[in-house]
Amino acid sequence: MPRASSPDNIAVVAQYIPLMGSVEDGIVEKFEHGGGLPYSAFPHFHEVMAEDSGQTVVSALTEHVLPLVPGLTGRLERGIEVLDVGCGSGKALTLLARKFPASRFVGYDFSEEAIARARAEAREHGTTNVRFEAKDAATLDEKERYDLITTFDAVHD
Ligand SMILES: C[S@@+](CC[C@H](N)C(=O)[O-])C[C@H]1O[C@@H](n2cnc3c(N)ncnc32)[C@H](O)[C@@H]1O
Repeated sequence: MPRASSPDNIAVVAQYIPLMGSVEDGIVEKFEHGGGLPYSAFPHFHEVMAEDSGQTVVSALTEHVLPLVPGLTGRLERGIEVLDVGCGSGKALTLLARKFPASRFVGYDFSEEAIARARAEAREHGTTNVRFEAKDAATLDEKERYDLITTFDAVHD
């Protein structure tokens, strides 16, 4: 029996089926006439995405993902600058910010809805070493410098 937070819990990803069904007509119309649907056309997308990555990315982050980079956990403990691109609802970054209080974290997502959710997540945990900004990754300023840049499940976008 999979745990509620296990990646094997199919109930979370099953929510994508009605979500996709609700935008079917719009997608068919785009196939016929060109263009694409924005994230904002997909009801509850960021909510479902946060549940999805909560049981995949977030649940594996500190124990399995960070140790893949030798020395990274130690550097985060000592304090570095971290950017997460396409941060969505900010659960991964807020978890890192809570675990590594000496480091500073910035999350960018071009969805205002996702950023509002991410800020609420940080507020809920009283996390002050993380900030979230609505920003398109295509407009990143090359003068910005980070020690670590992450992107979880967003490169395909
Ligand atoms: C599949 S979701 C993953 C969200 C989050 N990283 C997670 O694991 O829950 C992809 C995210 O990338 C964001 N995104 C896509 N293209 C972007 C761009 N050009 N600049 C910033 N964010 C972008 C979307 O708004 C969405 O929140």
